[in-house]
Amino acid sequence: MKFFIDTANVTEIRRISEWGILDGVTTNPSLIAKESGRPFEAIIEEICAIVDGPISAEVIALDAPGMIEEGRKLAKIHRNIVVKVPLTSEGLKATRAFQEEGIRTNVTLCFSATQGLMAAKAGATYVSPFIGRLDDINLPGMDLIAELTAIFANYDLPTQVLAASIRSPRHVTDAALAGAHVATIPTKVFDQMLAHPLTDKGIEGFLADWKKSGR
Ligand code: E4P
Repeated sequence: MKFFIDTANVTEIRRISEWGILDGVTTNPSLIAKESGRPFEAIIEEICAIVDGPISAEVIALDAPGMIEEGRKLAKIHRNIVVKVPLTSEGLKATRAFQEEGIRTNVTLCFSATQGLMAAKAGATYVSPFIGRLDDINLPGMDLIAELTAIFANYDLPTQVLAASIRSPRHVTDAALAGAHVATIPTKVFDQMLAHPLTDKGIEGFLADWKKSGR
């Protein structure tokens, strides 16, 4: 499973990229809005300079012509840009247009298998089912990951399932077990995935024994 980081904060992206496990980045308008004082394009350019992998940048327009215009501009920023579009009828039209132009897409805000299947049929590179937001309304987010990976496999669809709205390390494990191609993970969850008290305790014990041995 590929790991993307779900943030627009370049300090966080740089720190996690140094671990050597990062394959890409996803942003959205809310994440960009948190990075005050800098133009959207400048943030995206800086991210592209840190991570050599797919970088999702989202359009704001709600109509297909507007999405296509914005997406073309975003795609020109860097060869790694993936244009993120919402899962609406206009988003499907834009996805098809981008596919015909060779521009990769991440179709976002997917909350059902039929939505995801339509995005795949429109030629999406990635579809992003939102696990956490489904869990928030008492619907099993992880079931959607399993449904989409099974459906795409049934029909040899090349679209990748990008597990999004991840809130915990357990979400990452379960998404991997369900066959998600990618998980986009917030910085805090990366830290939680790595931390284990027995690792810390083990290191402490090894060092103490080493010191005692007088070597
Ligand atoms: C990623 O592409 C999504 O925008 C993101 O995972 C949404 O996560 P949230 O539900 O925690 O805002």
